[in-house]
Amino acid sequence: MTTFKVLRFDPAKDKAPRVDTFEVPAEKGLTVLESLYYIMENHDGSLAFRSSCRAAVCGSCAMHINGKYRLACNTQVETLKSDIITVQPLAHLPILKDLVVDLTNFFKHYDEIKPYIIPDSKLPEKEFVQSPKERRKIDGMVDCILCAACYGSCPVAAGEPGYLGPHALLKTARFVYDSRDKSTKERLQLVAHNKGLFRCHTIFNCQIACPKNLDPSGAIAKLKMKSVWSSLKEILPF
Ligand code: SF4
Ligand code: FES
Repeated sequence: MTTFKVLRFDPAKDKAPRVDTFEVPAEKGLTVLESLYYIMENHDGSLAFRSSCRAAVCGSCAMHINGKYRLACNTQVETLKSDIITVQPLAHLPILKDLVVDLTNFFKHYDEIKPYIIPDSKLPEKEFVQSPKERRKIDGMVDCILCAACYGSCPVAAGEPGYLGPHALLKTARFVYDSRDKSTKERLQLVAHNKGLFRCHTIFNCQIACPKNLDPSGAIAKLKMKSVWSSLKEILPF
């Protein structure tokens, strides 16, 4: 048996969060997400959590598992090498119920950066052509699954709800460095302010938290440089 200690909280009924303990049979290959389903089906049907793809692509099952942000669906219990597994929701975000957090702000900021390709007004007759070399410039950045682990881990986002957040800034870089996108100036204007790029304190939590091993901190640093250079170019005579 593996012991699961799961944070529970229903703001409609509870005064404060608590931790409930459940026993789950130890089975080879069992994931944390499957364990939560086991708990829901065998111990407490009211346990709330999000999941969808079960394949590490939809981003809905990100949570804090044994001290680290992980995707529950691709975390096998045996790999945690512990008889006790703690499961908590993403930090810093309002809990709607148990492991389900409110992602309204997260997606609002994502919308704010215009997360789609903005091409020249003259569109190609057929598809956009992108060379392998051009594509390599956005390798990794395109793999963000919007799981919100970085956002939940960021103390700046926790203290300033208006801060765009590491996910939105990484996505901005993903479009700025995409050869098909022609709106770099507008994109930099959308993020180069004190609730965007310049609010990031380079704490690196996002880089550590990302379950897809992406580097939002690095992307933010590159965008900061690009933004400063583009401002300098406008005022300097060379
Ligand atoms: S950058 Fe990583 S942690 Fe942040 S939303 Fe994307 S996949 Fe999740
Ligand atoms: S269920 Fe989709 S990422 Fe885990």
